Amino acid sequence: MLRQYVIGNWKMHGSVGQIRSVVRELLRAGLGTNVALCVPYPYIALTKSLLMEAESALQLGAQDVCEYHIGAYTGEVSAAMLADVGCEMVIVGHSERRRYFGESSETAARKVRAALDGGLFPVYCVGETLEQRQSGIARDIIAEELQVLAGVPTSLYAVAYEPSWAVGTGVVATPEQIAEMHAFIKGTLDARTRVLYGGSVKGDNAGQVLAVDGVDGVLVGGAALSAAEFLDICREAR
Ligand code: 13P
Repeated sequence: MLRQYVIGNWKMHGSVGQIRSVVRELLRAGLGTNVALCVPYPYIALTKSLLMEAESALQLGAQDVCEYHIGAYTGEVSAAMLADVGCEMVIVGHSERRRYFGESSETAARKVRAALDGGLFPVYCVGETLEQRQSGIARDIIAEELQVLAGVPTSLYAVAYEPSWAVGTGVVATPEQIAEMHAFIKGTLDARTRVLYGGSVKGDNAGQVLAVDGVDGVLVGGAALSAAEFLDICREAR
């Protein structure tokens, strides 16, 4: 069995100093290829050079990618550029992109395609809001979001189930809720689809989340900013 993934999403946090100190501390722990860091664009090259210096197996990723391949798209970053500076993966369709930047599943579908064309491994995020869950349409929302992956071979991507009510709130989905949604996602796509859970994963609850049936890893936000906390999570990966 492949090891469970632990992917840190730094979101719009960090500085040169913070990247240096956190990455150096992570490097001392000698993490493997199942662990990845998705840092803000300006820090990708710096992180890559720190990883190379230490000959680390830790993977590097971005948090978004342009849907277009090349051209006059001011402010955008292409998949080829991300691969060129050493990224292996990219987060696509995060709930914060959908919520604050109006990103639709149609846009996310083009981004998944662009990532694959550029040789990157997309980590495609799906999840419902609290309102959607309370009105009983969580599965419908996720099924609609999963259509983005239609026709893409299972081995080329991972899905992250991140209910937006659990993202940055300190409220973790229960093991039952996680098991149910991961089974639904695998049932909709393919039993072999790698499905990660994201939403308030911390050092003290990672063991419980990673023990849930159907959880192939975690996507970690806030807790990835502290090396000690992130390492506690990595230690729970089977
Ligand atoms: P938190 O771990 O801060 O809740 O964020 C989760 C997330 O959005 C990871 O992509």
